[in-house]
Amino acid sequence: MPRRGANRNRDRAGWRREAGAEAARRDDALAVRRGGGGVGPAPGVSLRLCGTGRVPGDINKPVIERIIRVDHAGEYGANRIYAGQMAVLGRSSVGPVIQQMWNQEKDHLKKFNDLMVAYRVRPTVLLPFWNVAGFVLGAGSALLGRKGAMACTVAVEESISDHYNSQIRTLVEEDPEKYRELLQIIKQFRDDELEHHDIGLEHDAKGAPAYSVLKTAIQLGCKAAIFLSERI
Ligand SMILES: [Fe+2]
Ligand SMILES: [Fe+2]
Repeated sequence: MPRRGANRNRDRAGWRREAGAEAARRDDALAVRRGGGGVGPAPGVSLRLCGTGRVPGDINKPVIERIIRVDHAGEYGANRIYAGQMAVLGRSSVGPVIQQMWNQEKDHLKKFNDLMVAYRVRPTVLLPFWNVAGFVLGAGSALLGRKGAMACTVAVEESISDHYNSQIRTLVEEDPEKYRELLQIIKQFRDDELEHHDIGLEHDAKGAPAYSVLKTAIQLGCKAAIFLSERI
């Protein structure tokens, strides 16, 4: 894991450096400002995405709205799950591991917050519910012990990475060039979630009480959360 983590961090650092350099080179040209009632970023909002820093015009608005809304909800929920786990296990031996994953979720959420503003997507109306449900799931799984918390992480992260993979397929079918920036972000986050999943397994998630039942139940909950957050 350390080697994979190091490579991933190096890749990510390179990606960010490249994004920063690219943004600096293009400077004002990349501050995308659009008005009117069409698709695209909100009036007066400048968005610098990685790479070209450009929010594409003429997007498939329903598809992009659905993707950004549900991903924002998922990252929000993930943050609440790790907050709940930290409330119970923050001072235990796995506290630093959970905190490290939570820190990455904070970055993910921040990025989707930015994307929501840029693409003018409203959040799901279920956010207050995910606030409570995420924390309860995180704290509840952590009350089963560190293996319970890790089983929750494995279940959730597997669901989220599968979900990101299906979004990647959708965007590639739509137009991989037009959605290059979004694809790059989702692929990066998918890799982060897979790493969280592996960290859960490495910390003996399968040793949790009733692991299979727990995992199945949590993943059913994730499917329901995804279904609802895409729609309302
Ligand atoms: Fe995440
Ligand atoms: Fe994650």
